[in-house]
Amino acid sequence: KGLHKLALQAGLKYFGSATDSPGQRERAGKEDAYPQYDYIMWKSGEFGQTTPTNGQKWLFTEPSRGVFNFTEGEIVATKARKAGYYLRCHALVWHSQLAPWVESRNWTKAELRKVIVDHVTRVAGHWRGRCYAWDVVNEALNEDGTYRQSIFYQVLGEEYIKLAFKTAAKADPHAKLYYNDYNLEWPSAKTEGAKRIVKMLRKEGIRIDGVGLQAHLVAENHPTLDQHIDAIKGFADLGVEVALTELDVRLTVPATAENLAQQKEAYKNVVGACVQVKGCIGVTIWDFYDPFSWVPDYFPSEGAPLLWFANFTKHPAYDGVVEAL
Ligand code: XIL
Repeated sequence: KGLHKLALQAGLKYFGSATDSPGQRERAGKEDAYPQYDYIMWKSGEFGQTTPTNGQKWLFTEPSRGVFNFTEGEIVATKARKAGYYLRCHALVWHSQLAPWVESRNWTKAELRKVIVDHVTRVAGHWRGRCYAWDVVNEALNEDGTYRQSIFYQVLGEEYIKLAFKTAAKADPHAKLYYNDYNLEWPSAKTEGAKRIVKMLRKEGIRIDGVGLQAHLVAENHPTLDQHIDAIKGFADLGVEVALTELDVRLTVPATAENLAQQKEAYKNVVGACVQVKGCIGVTIWDFYDPFSWVPDYFPSEGAPLLWFANFTKHPAYDGVVEAL
């Protein structure tokens, strides 16, 4: 039937997959244009939403100061529009994949404020009206709930978060504005930190509509259904919507019957929790095809985190998702 249709029947808005633009995939040494890949991504009915994996990030959209380039981001955004998919846009202010020029100067507060305002205005303005949601600020928190010492935080403190959301609200009044981070999928000091951000913005009358739980999980050590439900409820109770924005469940390679079964349970738990908590509106997997995953590049000896193997057969976890929906 397709995961997206099942998700709609389960009361979600979408089930989607991130995908990269061909240029980005080539640079990462990953081949492109498998007809089977494109069929599953755009035609099979499995998905109804996408996120550009890389093309909208600062490094690509403003590689030099004031020089904007929307080419890579447009590739996925245009395909999404043609397919009639929801587009989640990702990410405006983030310490990683940041253009080097942003970090290579000792900005005054006023200068860095202008850098942020210009970037968010131009990038969110470019896609105005086309993004269901924007990840406005990505990964601002440490695991203990304190703020990460990014260039933005070092110069401006938490003011940079307020400025980013305020500016995004002006640049695209239609997009839902999200705070997005990883390890928010079970209750912890970090989830408390994310709640603090939501409350801070609300208190100042600054719009924030959602919290994105990236959900980069680990098969052999995954949370329970109840832990996920508690974490999601904690955000939903603040009146913001919640989405699983970058779901994948990595395992220690090679894949075995045992770790694939653990992976299946992990997917089932987290998707099931999203279905069960009103306020969790959709699920995005961080690509669907193992060879295109970021995991092997970033976590040595881990891999196979997605729902389709290299030979395009489905993981047992696919059935876990079906069972959850
Ligand atoms: C990853 C991409 O998948 C890779 O291709 C890239 O090399 C690095 O970034 N959190 C995020 C995503 O918010 O943007 C990251 O995506 C994965 C972690």
